[in-house]
Amino acid sequence: MGTAAGSWRGAALAWALALLAAGGRVGALENGLARTPTMGWLHWERFLCSTDCAGEPLSCISEQLFMQMADLMVSDGWKDVGYEFVCIDDCWMAMTRDDQGRLQPDPERFPSGIRKLADYVHSKGLKLGIYGDVGNKTCAGFPGSYGYYDLDAQTFADWGVDLLKFDGCNYGTLDQLAEGYRNMSLALNNTGRSIVYSCEWPLYMRPMQKPNYTEIKHYCNHWRNYGDIYDAWNSVKNILDWTALHQDSIVDIAGPGGWNDPDMLVIGNFGLSWDQQLTQMALWAIMAAPLLMSNDLRHVSPQAKWLLQNKEDNNFELWERPLSRGAYAVAVLNRQEIGGPQIFSFSTSFLGNGLACNPVCSIQQILPTSEDWGLHNWVSFLNVEVNPTGTVLLKVVVITEPPDEKLVMNMNKNPSPDIL
Ligand code: GLA
Repeated sequence: MGTAAGSWRGAALAWALALLAAGGRVGALENGLARTPTMGWLHWERFLCSTDCAGEPLSCISEQLFMQMADLMVSDGWKDVGYEFVCIDDCWMAMTRDDQGRLQPDPERFPSGIRKLADYVHSKGLKLGIYGDVGNKTCAGFPGSYGYYDLDAQTFADWGVDLLKFDGCNYGTLDQLAEGYRNMSLALNNTGRSIVYSCEWPLYMRPMQKPNYTEIKHYCNHWRNYGDIYDAWNSVKNILDWTALHQDSIVDIAGPGGWNDPDMLVIGNFGLSWDQQLTQMALWAIMAAPLLMSNDLRHVSPQAKWLLQNKEDNNFELWERPLSRGAYAVAVLNRQEIGGPQIFSFSTSFLGNGLACNPVCSIQQILPTSEDWGLHNWVSFLNVEVNPTGTVLLKVVVITEPPDEKLVMNMNKNPSPDIL
């Protein structure tokens, strides 16, 4: 008996707060930004470097892709829960600079230009991130910023960019790498525009030299320590293993203004099981990581969306006991002793090891009052309001007979008022 579905999030928050407190001791980049870890969407893991808009119109790196993501960030509630940055990664540029030496977007894929795209993103109340590289070329072979730090920073500022991811491919010597990261930080500050500075500095220097995190935090708002994430449990595991192994050198440094970046969230894609997606969310929260989703917001399952949008700071506990005849008693306990009633939202897939509502279950509230909550399936979400220190007790009964279509439609169309 007893699963505390909410407790990992409580632990995550406590850990993040501990990191916040610890971080106060270290001098951070004084641009006033990233007081909490950056949240948003970044194209790389899901969309990579697709430049063929004729062949792949829905997934090529184009202004249309970022405008669609911006639309969905607002209409699907991402912005409301804090995802704010719509970020372009590599492969947005034209292969050459313009006649004044400025970077320019690929004219076919970004016909309106980045300034217009930034205006669009801003009109939605969101912010725009862009990508560059400290060396001669980006990792995908587009123009790098080496020798152009001031001009590129100014170009980004003129366009209204709000975040720069600065990669470290093709950098020359280690001194040039460090110089480049420092110079771009200063160049961004000199523009006078608030631009979050996301570095990969320690990742590129680590094979040869131990990173000086105090210095890195002095120049960067977040920094990648480890290789690129991909959509597989093995990749998430490797990042966690690396983090556990190096925790003594990276945990204390994180705090307002500067964060370790274990790379993008790949929740909502193809490669992680549900449990593995829960693990990524929980552990990225525990690491106080930037939360940059790389998925297709046009096709995110309700379950993944719930996980990515979950804001509970959780003083809730979810307890359950199997009863006879395929039923479960479920208690939702609110342990908070301050404030008023709180709503705890959770997926029915938490119940009975995922079996209680698969394919369908009926739910009855037993306490504080008796109420019939009707039929639900395994992708339903329950929204349970509980008084401080109070409990709502439910009885969930598995229905093994496949429901007829009419029933399922009714169930989906007419959720009870307590059900999301
Ligand atoms: C590097 C970075 C990735 C991504 C690609 C783009 O590998 O670490 O996050 O930006 O380059 O080419």
